[in-house]
Amino acid sequence: MIKLDITKVAPLVSTADIQALAPRVAEAQQALEAGTCPGNDFLGWMHLPSSITPEFIDEIKATADVLRKECDAVVVAGIGGSYLGAKAVIEALSNSFQWLVNDGSNPTILFAGNNIGEDYLFELTAYLRNKRFGVINISKSGTTTETALAFRLLKKQCEEQRGKDEARKVIVAITDAKRGAARTCADKEGYKSFIIPDNVGGRFSVLTPVGLLPIAVAGFDIAQLVKGAQDMEKTAAQPLEENPAAQYAATRYALYTAGKKIEILANYQPKLHFIAEWWKQLYGESEGKDGKGIFPASVDLTTDLHSMGQWIQEGERSIFETVISVENSEHNLLFPSDEENLDGLNFLAGKRVDEVNKMAELGTQLAHVDGGVPNIRIAIDRLDAYHLGQLIYFFERACGIHCQLLGVNAFNQPGVEAYKKNMFALLGKPGYEKETEAIKARLG
Ligand code: PA5
Repeated sequence: MIKLDITKVAPLVSTADIQALAPRVAEAQQALEAGTCPGNDFLGWMHLPSSITPEFIDEIKATADVLRKECDAVVVAGIGGSYLGAKAVIEALSNSFQWLVNDGSNPTILFAGNNIGEDYLFELTAYLRNKRFGVINISKSGTTTETALAFRLLKKQCEEQRGKDEARKVIVAITDAKRGAARTCADKEGYKSFIIPDNVGGRFSVLTPVGLLPIAVAGFDIAQLVKGAQDMEKTAAQPLEENPAAQYAATRYALYTAGKKIEILANYQPKLHFIAEWWKQLYGESEGKDGKGIFPASVDLTTDLHSMGQWIQEGERSIFETVISVENSEHNLLFPSDEENLDGLNFLAGKRVDEVNKMAELGTQLAHVDGGVPNIRIAIDRLDAYHLGQLIYFFERACGIHCQLLGVNAFNQPGVEAYKKNMFALLGKPGYEKETEAIKARLG
């Protein structure tokens, strides 16, 4: 099970400060369980892991097998919650040099629909030319511009390369049961489709087919991922003292009210980079509203100690740091001895690389704490599907609790509409005539 160390947030926040939040945490948990909190029509993620049946996993695996058999590359089209969870888990579980070592036993997983970069889309479609590729089109609303744009290009190319009938076999839609253009298109074309439950918002959807199908196509064990989340679902229902997710939420809240407005999520494994990206969306979109919310930032260490380390050590003291620590590496690599010892590193000879990494982690933690940066440590046993499943649910539940403590609706994102309105007005979308006129007048 995940181990949480919150002893290094003292002296700013004491154990007693955190314990004093127990009644409020219990209230928050009760509101989430009873569905009496704001946004209560989006609480489907709460008991999602325990609701996943072996039959459902088999259905996802069967679709994944078709894509794995028929495709050398599979493009996952989606943005925000419709992409980050899958990307995070696949990156965390893949060989760091997947592109180079792929022996053809797994299709290459590519992502699109998460930007509008012309060069990106040009280069992607060029790469896919004459390749056996498939597409997983993921959009809950079914109307997101970035995703729709990429899907339009990919569908056309897939049909041109395979013919319409064959393309139909390797295009899968994951979308709303009834609404949106992605649903209309899937029904019209006869694509295999999966439903994103109405009561699960994008950023809480990694354990629905949104995350599970791409992860299964990549060849990873989704049953173990779900098992990890199921185990954490049980733990996260416990009272504060026995519940790391609740403790993490309470500690964040105590730090925030003590003036720490920025949380930096740090990792010491490059494979965790996208876990931090997923986490930033989960927390940023859930908390950042009504003028409130901890700003979620991230660093990859030790890499960023050589870029952001100075700021963290001595910059404005408005930050705290949360470290995800992986206790066991998958491989064993020893530092060699060198006769000349020109770099003076022979004192490390015979030690595991991971031991050096762990000492870097400990040394950094102590330095940052000395520099006035409270530190939370989240330790997972190893980087596998089971422990990632635990970590995902841990963060989701803690996010739900923390938003209750903050008094914000965790499950909406009204601010995201502002850019869309301007973009559509600027592009002259039908129905936006008034906005187009107003924005043109503003720009002069
Ligand atoms: O968390 C969210 O709700 C958002 O980030 C969405 O996932 C994102 O905007 C994509 O939306 P959709 O799945 O409707 O295309």
